[in-house]
Amino acid sequence: MNILLLGSGGREHAFAWKLTQSSLCETLFIAPGNAGTSQHGKNVQLNPNDFEAVSTFCLSNKIDMVVVGPEEPLVRGIIDYFKDDENLRHIKVVGPSMEGAKLEGSKAYGKVFMAAQNIPTAAYQEFTPTSLNEGLEFISQQTPPVVLKADGLAAGKGVVIAQSLEEAKEELKAMLGGKFGAASERVVIEQFLSGIEFSVFVLTDGTDYKILPVAKDYKKIGEGDTGLNTGGMGAISPPPFVDDVMMQKVVERVVEPTLIEIQNRKIDYKGFIFIGLISVENEPYVIEYNCRMGDPETEVVLPRLKTDLVELLNALFDGSLKNINIELEAKTAATVMLVSGGYPEKYEKGKIMSNIGEVENSLIFHAGTKGADGQVVTNGGRVMALTSFGNNFQEAVQQSLENAEKVEFEGKYYRKDIGFDL
Ligand code: AMP
Ligand code: GLY
Repeated sequence: MNILLLGSGGREHAFAWKLTQSSLCETLFIAPGNAGTSQHGKNVQLNPNDFEAVSTFCLSNKIDMVVVGPEEPLVRGIIDYFKDDENLRHIKVVGPSMEGAKLEGSKAYGKVFMAAQNIPTAAYQEFTPTSLNEGLEFISQQTPPVVLKADGLAAGKGVVIAQSLEEAKEELKAMLGGKFGAASERVVIEQFLSGIEFSVFVLTDGTDYKILPVAKDYKKIGEGDTGLNTGGMGAISPPPFVDDVMMQKVVERVVEPTLIEIQNRKIDYKGFIFIGLISVENEPYVIEYNCRMGDPETEVVLPRLKTDLVELLNALFDGSLKNINIELEAKTAATVMLVSGGYPEKYEKGKIMSNIGEVENSLIFHAGTKGADGQVVTNGGRVMALTSFGNNFQEAVQQSLENAEKVEFEGKYYRKDIGFDL
């Protein structure tokens, strides 16, 4: 099969690495990819959100399958675009339809969806500019912290946890006043949940499903989970606190009702559901849904998946998912993300990277990198994920840290405490 993978991060390098291990994958193209993905296939300069360009490329290169890494093409309706065109309909595009992608693209939609099945999640109310005063009144009745979420996609910055009612009110005014553009024309205000977070990944064809390895990511820039939120500074799979009892609760209370609601709404969903959960006194609550795999979670989830990924993705389209056995690596995987100095605020690109060849006993997943004149240079905030296996997470993290020290580029920063709270 000829496969086109959309995206350019560490997640996509991990996908490229795993997809090309399959004998079913003949040619892999990555659009636009990074310096790491080009080791596994051909990078092509295409914007994943330009569906016309993507579909033209698919036809001229006889693409059989498209794997969509990031959420934006899904939220913008890439699945529907291919489905609605008889020349494109035969191409297997992995992901939910535009309606299904609303699970990520609209926080309010996700809340109504969960309520329909009594899926455990924080209590909430939603507000728009016309109901600003009701929103301010609602905040007055809360006990801080107060969680405010821009309804739409806001590049991972749309969630604010206000530590006082005053701050929450100012934030509500700012959001409804256009702080995140159209994304915050609607705001969800919800109850603050205190606990430990983890992520469950489900692969579904809309009827059957398989659960992929569980992971926990570390979103804050600073050690001890301090400072600004980032795309993710590291991840562990499996997090030891997610035991069989917890997973059974997640399956019964969250995964199965989610599938039932997808069916009730007749949503065409052939792809990944990323369920962000929080364990509050050993009870799981949903923090959010995403309609794609996580980054950097994919950099620990796919290395633990022994099953052929192309076979699994193919099964979404021929009804055979239930016949596939998911085989997992029993060892723990950990990834440590090297980032550019200054990230997630202002940072510089184009720094020459060296000593990548000295990495031993870790998988290297490039994120923000590109090839330039035979060298690899930084090209983003998150630069490279180093994934290792261990008999426990401490061993795995330690191995990644040894290699994190070796790779050099000006301004390199990484967290040395991934797993500190486990
Ligand atoms: P989200 O973009 O929905 O993943 O939110 C970003 C982060 O905000 C989550 O990973 C949580 O750490 C935090 N968060 C979101 N909702 C809540 C909540 N109801 N209570 C506590 N923390 C939350
Ligand atoms: N690591 C969180 C995300 O991919 O959204």
